[in-house]
Amino acid sequence: MKKSSFSTKVGLIMAAAGGAVGLGNIWKFPYIAGENGGGAFLLVYLLCVLLFGLPLLVMEFMIGKRSGKSTYGAFRALSGTNRWQWMSWLCMLTAMVIMGFYFVVTGWCFNYLVEALVNAFSGLDSSALTEHFSVVSTNKPRMIAFTVLPVLLTAAVLWFDVNKGIERLSKILMPLLLLMMLLMAGRVLMLDGSNLGMQFFFQFDCAKLTSHVVMEAMGQCFFSLSIGLGALITYGAYMPKGQNIPAASLQVLVLDTLVAILAGVIIFPAVFAFGVNPEQGPQLVFVVLPAVLQQMSFAWLSSVLFFGLLCIAALTSTISLMEVAVAFVQEATADTRHPLSRRQSVSLVAALVLVLIMLCIFFPAMFDVSDQLTAGFTMPLTALCMAVFVGWGLPKRGEGSVLLHTKGTRRRAGQVFLFFLRWIIPLIILLVFLNGLGVLKF
Ligand code: TRP
Repeated sequence: MKKSSFSTKVGLIMAAAGGAVGLGNIWKFPYIAGENGGGAFLLVYLLCVLLFGLPLLVMEFMIGKRSGKSTYGAFRALSGTNRWQWMSWLCMLTAMVIMGFYFVVTGWCFNYLVEALVNAFSGLDSSALTEHFSVVSTNKPRMIAFTVLPVLLTAAVLWFDVNKGIERLSKILMPLLLLMMLLMAGRVLMLDGSNLGMQFFFQFDCAKLTSHVVMEAMGQCFFSLSIGLGALITYGAYMPKGQNIPAASLQVLVLDTLVAILAGVIIFPAVFAFGVNPEQGPQLVFVVLPAVLQQMSFAWLSSVLFFGLLCIAALTSTISLMEVAVAFVQEATADTRHPLSRRQSVSLVAALVLVLIMLCIFFPAMFDVSDQLTAGFTMPLTALCMAVFVGWGLPKRGEGSVLLHTKGTRRRAGQVFLFFLRWIIPLIILLVFLNGLGVLKF
């Protein structure tokens, strides 16, 4: 099997960052922060990013790079046993379930892009936009049409192999998205009442800090950084020689967090300026953003540009998600009597994803459950298991130390990293779980 590889180091960082930056930052982060008390959520979120983000990003990249395999083969290759194989399946299942609802939201973005093109939002106020969203999210044929489109686009990119497609796309468009968001933030901050939004988002109110907020913030941290399902293992396997993993991880982390905060700085001031409810859930950004864009100079162009870039940010994420599943299928079938080619794997995964999407469209409860189940449970759980795997499971003198003793790894840094994987990360995830389940109360 020909092994794909990213052609440049920057290419890998951009692809990984492109996978991390997506609807999680622009759609999910603001609405969950809005539901969970703004500033209190932000603080816990940042703590999670600091505590979990760097060690887990580094860990996943290293597992991938060391083993040269995707989630299916990585744990076996490193440990030399089959005992950890269930983690591969956990990764695969999580990726599939996330795709089920992620594509639906991507479909909404495509819907809004098309409407921005025909200038459908001009003159609509926030209550009209709320009404509009309920049409978009309940009209099933329309939802199906707009959701199938990104599935086909994602499958097409993977069909023609990872590196070329992903690299080229994210290298040019990510900075453009950042610029567009900066302009929007600038505009929003000039609106009357925007300071109340900044207070809501940046002021920490201890009374709002509950175990639910902590659970949600932790889940969001995993979701947004794309950790806890082996997406970065898959990318790590494609890493070019000599890539500095901690530096790459830090870049992905900083970029991802910046975009999330920037999204908050756009949404919350606008929420207060327009007098809408910050706790309205998944529809929040679809009500607020078109209204913000109407305030920009060159409103039509701004809307088209923004929703266009949002669609592309979503696509780079769906590409990374689907790549996890495709690489899994390819590797899992490689040694059987019916090895599937890359294109066959892409077709199989896309077909399965379409089934899951239909479930999410026809049973909206499934949409909510998928999100809760993955960000709230399987991703932190998988991350916990991977940390235990690397920290405790790998033989000390064998691959375990090899995982750390790559050229250029400083011993001190390696020890701190291992300490995090062994103690800090498993213990904190466990505590948050027990606390969330009400077994322990803080
Ligand atoms: N992190 C992406 C976002 O914030 C979503 C995502 C893409 C993801 N690929 C992933 C989440 C892999 C977990 C694992 O939108």
